[in-house]
Amino acid sequence: MRVPFIAGNWKMNKTARESIDFVQEVADKLPAPAEVETAVAAPALVLQSMVAAAAGTPLRIVGENCFYENEGAYTGEISPAVLKEIGVNYVILGHSERRLYFHESDEVINKKVLAAIDNNLLPIVCCDETMGRQAAGDKIHWVVSQIMADLRGLTEEQMKTVTVAYEPSWAIGTGQSASSAQAEEGCYLIRQTIADIYNDELANHIRVLYGGSVKPGNIAEIMAKPNIDGVLVGNASLEADSFLKLANYQ
Ligand code: G3P
Repeated sequence: MRVPFIAGNWKMNKTARESIDFVQEVADKLPAPAEVETAVAAPALVLQSMVAAAAGTPLRIVGENCFYENEGAYTGEISPAVLKEIGVNYVILGHSERRLYFHESDEVINKKVLAAIDNNLLPIVCCDETMGRQAAGDKIHWVVSQIMADLRGLTEEQMKTVTVAYEPSWAIGTGQSASSAQAEEGCYLIRQTIADIYNDELANHIRVLYGGSVKPGNIAEIMAKPNIDGVLVGNASLEADSFLKLANYQ
């Protein structure tokens, strides 16, 4: 069975001190990792101290981005090898904010996914969907084409390390979550796409998350859906109390 995965994505919202205080505050109140896996994603600068603060606790530490090369003349970039070296477990790739503000294409995201896996990082690959595309009836084509492009060339073994997140842009940071039925529809679509490209067994093995205005008040309904294995949470993951409610949603 797929272990539920509750991940916070802090984006660029905490200082280094606040990040460590948060880890210390939640660490001994989290569920056992065999029941619910918990993680938080933070900017690269604070990851090493967070790994140290979370050592020996169930909390996993996630990078919010990495590059697709391990070394070279790439001023300002973050190598997947360094993330691994400092003890980071997961890395978010293809978040809609990276696509929108930093112009990341599916081709670049695909290279990053492969590089992360090569470095034994577990990628959380996000795919988005805009209101415009949904209204134009283009949602299915858009979500499927992103997944196919972002995961192009991965072997079955490599795919087993991947978590996919369905994050409709119109639900991100708006306070207006997708309904649990809409979230389930997106996650189901992703699982079906993986089944079509690979096989049912692999599709049933992979965790698919929903992200977009998840909060303590709606997580239980969302997590009750059969194709939703977890959530990727922005705003409601910033306060320790709220994150603990999400982590202990059961
Ligand atoms: O990656 C999580 C995210 O984009 C959702 O953000 O603030 O709507 O929970 P939020």
